[in-house]
Amino acid sequence: MRSTVIVSGVAILAGLLAACGPGGSDSTAGSATPAAAPAAPALTDAEKQELLASLPAPYNTGNLENGKTTFALCRSCHTITPGGPNSTGPNLHGVFGRTAGTHAGFKYSDAVKNAGFNWDAEKLDAWLADPKGFLPGNRMTFVGLKDAEKRRDLIAYLKVETGYKPGE
Ligand code: HEC
Repeated sequence: MRSTVIVSGVAILAGLLAACGPGGSDSTAGSATPAAAPAAPALTDAEKQELLASLPAPYNTGNLENGKTTFALCRSCHTITPGGPNSTGPNLHGVFGRTAGTHAGFKYSDAVKNAGFNWDAEKLDAWLADPKGFLPGNRMTFVGLKDAEKRRDLIAYLKVETGYKPGE
């Protein structure tokens, strides 16, 4: 039967992956990260939910799955992993609490470099709703995300995925 063949193919593949996984301790199934992730321990799903619940409203009611889906809009230009590369836009790990325009190795526009604030949920919300209006002259070619609920979910997702510590 065809299904049997597929199942055994998957089993062989799983066996190969198990045999050669370098950072074998991080077993987040299915997330195919080609470059080995840096050492920082990823949060477990339970820890993510705990952090989510501890966020101030409305982010505590954010939907991480929806946020992840919405992050597809950003992924072509931004990485969020610890020590991840800059590409068209800067790596966003640790962005909460970070002074705008200060991530090492990225050439910002004067608009962002001179913004003079630390990123928090409110600033990010305003930025993502209308990047051009919020910091005129910036170089992020993104039209903005008009749907407030999507911004809420995205910001909750970013808090949980970029190393945010409560209180930052
Ligand atoms: C087409 C590429 C592109 C897309 C898509 C994009 N960005 Fe950006 N982003 C940039 C660039 C370029 C900058 C730097 C802008 C500047 O210096 O003027 C930036 C800057 C930022 C900053 C400021 C970072 C800092 O260190 O101060 C944040 C936060 C950010 N983007 C978040 C996002 C999020 C979240 C999304 C998805 C909704 C997104 N961006 C989509 C290219 C992009």
